Amino acid sequence: MSDITLTLDGQMLTVPQGTTILQAAQQLHAQGLAPEIPTVCYHPHFTPPSLCRVCVVEVEKSRVLVQACSRVAENGMVVKTDSPRVQLARKVLLEMLHSAVDLSDAPELQSFTQKYNADPNRYGTGIERREFPLFDDNPFYLRDYSKCILCWRCTQACGEDVQWTFAIHRAERGFETRISTFEAVPIPESTCVYCGNCVQACPTGALQAKRAAWLEQGLDLKQLVRVSNLERREKG
Ligand code: SF4
Ligand code: FES
Repeated sequence: MSDITLTLDGQMLTVPQGTTILQAAQQLHAQGLAPEIPTVCYHPHFTPPSLCRVCVVEVEKSRVLVQACSRVAENGMVVKTDSPRVQLARKVLLEMLHSAVDLSDAPELQSFTQKYNADPNRYGTGIERREFPLFDDNPFYLRDYSKCILCWRCTQACGEDVQWTFAIHRAERGFETRISTFEAVPIPESTCVYCGNCVQACPTGALQAKRAAWLEQGLDLKQLVRVSNLERREKG
């Protein structure tokens, strides 16, 4: 495969054909020559779903900002990864996310919020938020979709990118879009094998291992074993 040369934040670099803008930028960032591009829905081991748009960058001659995580770099491309336009887009996106969901357990998103000077209360309190009851239907993990930004990383981990279990998937449309099991059955009635990959992949704390939640609530290891066994008997 041949190489291509692009200019990224004023630096020329040559990368193999097929390299994404994000991968090229990461190469420069590792050498201290470019800022880090923030990502949310992107996971290095999954197919980029290109949903959150937090990674957008400016490409010369392109009318719209492009997602660095999925856009393949081209020969002669000129890219700005941190221009005022890019920073403003990221700020507004973060403010919109804050307006819709609870990001209190999303450390990366909180650090981006600070970095881009986004105001979590920009859109005030008069708008409809995505709120759901907490699902506590199995012995291993909690599902709190009021914290879900619909990045799809959990469904990718559950599906073709890792586990091939297909216990969870997207349901409904538009504002009603959400993550669910097939036919919204409780987790123990789904195909879930409790591998934990979805919990691992979730960037917002919408999915949380129960043991982690209990430790956060102050249980010691002895209490943890007792509560776990009790739960397993009740819900297993
Ligand atoms: S539950 Fe977590 S991983 Fe799944 S879509 Fe929501 S935020 Fe993303
Ligand atoms: S990280 Fe690129 S669109 Fe989400």
